[in-house]
Amino acid sequence: MAKLKNDTLIRALLRQPTPYTPVWLMRQAGRYLPEYNETRARAGSFLALCKNPDLATEVTLQPLARFALDAAIVFSDILTLPEAMGLGLGFTEGEGPRLDRPLREEREIRNLTAPDPDRHLRYVLDTIRQVRKALAGEVPLIGFAGSPFTLACYMVEGGATSDFRTVKTMLYGRPELLHRILDVNCSAVTAYLNAQIESGAQVVMVFDTWGGTLGPGEYREFSLAYMQRVVEGLKRVHHGERIPSILFTKGGGAWLESIAASGCDAVGLDWTVDPGAARCRIGERVALQGNLDPAVLLAGPQAIRSGVAAVLAGFGRGGGHVFNLGHGVSQFTPPENVALLVDTVHELSQRYH
Ligand code: CP3
Repeated sequence: MAKLKNDTLIRALLRQPTPYTPVWLMRQAGRYLPEYNETRARAGSFLALCKNPDLATEVTLQPLARFALDAAIVFSDILTLPEAMGLGLGFTEGEGPRLDRPLREEREIRNLTAPDPDRHLRYVLDTIRQVRKALAGEVPLIGFAGSPFTLACYMVEGGATSDFRTVKTMLYGRPELLHRILDVNCSAVTAYLNAQIESGAQVVMVFDTWGGTLGPGEYREFSLAYMQRVVEGLKRVHHGERIPSILFTKGGGAWLESIAASGCDAVGLDWTVDPGAARCRIGERVALQGNLDPAVLLAGPQAIRSGVAAVLAGFGRGGGHVFNLGHGVSQFTPPENVALLVDTVHELSQRYH
């Protein structure tokens, strides 16, 4: 395998020196790009787009054609895994994802099994192989999965929720059932991420979008414990190259020390976390990724420049920082603002290295 031409992301994740701070954005491919909407229309639906490796490769590369990003992230969704488990998945305009067969009955939960990624998620692995070929070593490719708990939220609720009533009722009323789901999800996520690594993913990230809705004890027991098991089960080296792992719990700012102790290489921060304080708390142990409020990209050049400057100053001098947003790019973001963000990070970060 040829060496990467731009390995700043990998180096920053391993806390090695870099000439500037690498930047990529969660949801960097998506509806704010007109060419994405065009490709999705050609695919017929979001799910058809995910399942078509040619088109998924195309949209993975779209943001890299426009912006000087330091990484690609494979175009897919965290919910392809529950779909591969047979729960049925649909996306309705304006409402978000829906699982047709949410887990409610004890019998269904006892029968749940982890899918074989080579069979049921082959389209994601094919996309990864195609993207790696197309990138030709330009920048690294990130693979990802949802956390066992975040996936369980969707699998039990059946879709988006504001109060997590069904999954929390199970957590407090029938914890053994939720643990059974989490145990299967943990095996499924580990096998899925390892299959992504074997297909060419050079970094892996676990998205724990809903862990932050839990109390501290519940977070440790129902979310972090399972992410730690995932990290312990990951292939750390592939073809002689270290494969760094990133854990991101949205709303997890209070628990950074325990997340950093999980064995991951980097911790993702949302925008509610003070970067300087995070660095003092855990910056010697792991790399940090984040954490500009995505809403800054809705405003103009001045807000972007001062927002980037503040985040960089907060993280301070030295390596171990990957610039990102604190959550995904909003669909209402003007693309030229993303270009400005990426260029500004590259320009202003040099003095910190
Ligand atoms: O970052 C990237 O560019 C890679 C692609 C990516 C998508 N989803 C594409 C997508 C990634 C990494 C995800 C992760 C994901 N998906 C998460 C975790 C991160 C987060 O955002 O918290 C979650 C919770 C999901 C589940 C999901 N998928 C929701 C709630 C929605 C609907 C809300 C929305 O923004 O539309 C999706 C759909 C989705 N996933 C879209 C994209 C580009 C929009 C679908 C469309 O084109 O209509």
